[in-house]
Amino acid sequence: MSTTAVPPRTSNPRKILVLGATSGIAEATCRIWAAEGAHLFLVARNAEKLAAVASDLRTRGAAFVDTAVADLDDTDSHHALLTHAVNSLAGMDVAYLAHGILGDQPAAEQDFNTAAQILHTNLTAPVSLLTWLSNYCVPRHTGTLAILSSVAGDRGRKSNYVYGSSKAGLSAFVSGLRNRIDREGVTVLTIKPGPTRTAMTAANPKSAKYADPDKVAKSIAAAIAAEKDQIYVPFIWQPIMFIIRNIPERIFKKLNL
Ligand SMILES: NC(=O)c1ccc[n+]([C@@H]2O[C@H](COP(=O)([O-])OP(=O)(O)OC[C@H]3O[C@@H](n4cnc5c(N)ncnc54)[C@H](OP(=O)(O)O)[C@@H]3O)[C@@H](O)[C@H]2O)c1
Repeated sequence: MSTTAVPPRTSNPRKILVLGATSGIAEATCRIWAAEGAHLFLVARNAEKLAAVASDLRTRGAAFVDTAVADLDDTDSHHALLTHAVNSLAGMDVAYLAHGILGDQPAAEQDFNTAAQILHTNLTAPVSLLTWLSNYCVPRHTGTLAILSSVAGDRGRKSNYVYGSSKAGLSAFVSGLRNRIDREGVTVLTIKPGPTRTAMTAANPKSAKYADPDKVAKSIAAAIAAEKDQIYVPFIWQPIMFIIRNIPERIFKKLNL
């Protein structure tokens, strides 16, 4: 006989801001937090998808769900958006940055504007958000900033080096931010997923074999709760990327990766 474990509802629900809440990985993570009775503020650019996610999370037990429709590329709007979000939540325990684009690598090789768009969405916009969020958390000496980077940032490969370089920049920024503000009582978590089955990878013929977003989300929620610094999800990507990072360049440049 099997039983289904029901996560405990805490007496002090966490206040969680989710940027890019319609992301497959973010949605799966929010389902875990909703079952715990969390308070959620969800930001996404597609109003219809956002309303569906919010409604689902209310059904699953979230004690409070508010939303804002925003294109996170618009860095000028970040100050007002984030101020509104923390006011709506009446505080913030966790900010989860999940938005991102894979982009079109072959197009980006030919056209700088395509490459610049990938760098803007995946690096410049998160830097803007994290600057505001860290300035909110540091004077309060509390909070967790959890950021979805990628294993792709660990080494540039010919198949996706524009996306990879945006995530490499993001990982480096987040590492430096952690080095600065961990001592102020703010936890900064770098999340490096391997290939995961979401809308981002749906066009890849191998995507059926990619990691299950619910399992990835479980590891992310556990890492946030444990106040970890960095995780690879699934864990196997940690030794894989250790090997990939250490392949000598004279060999690496000849590989088809
Ligand atoms: N799936 C993987 O294999 C994998 C591996 C490593 C890292 N990651 C990272 O994990 C994060 C989540 O990705 P995912 O796999 O969950 O893919 P996803 O389902 O495609 O989610 C990406 C989300 O980002 C949103 N977004 C993109 N640009 C935006 C903008 N300018 N403003 C607001 N929202 C924007 C998208 O909104 P729309 O739905 O409106 O387009 C979508 O909700 C991304 O940062 C991704 O790079 C994914």
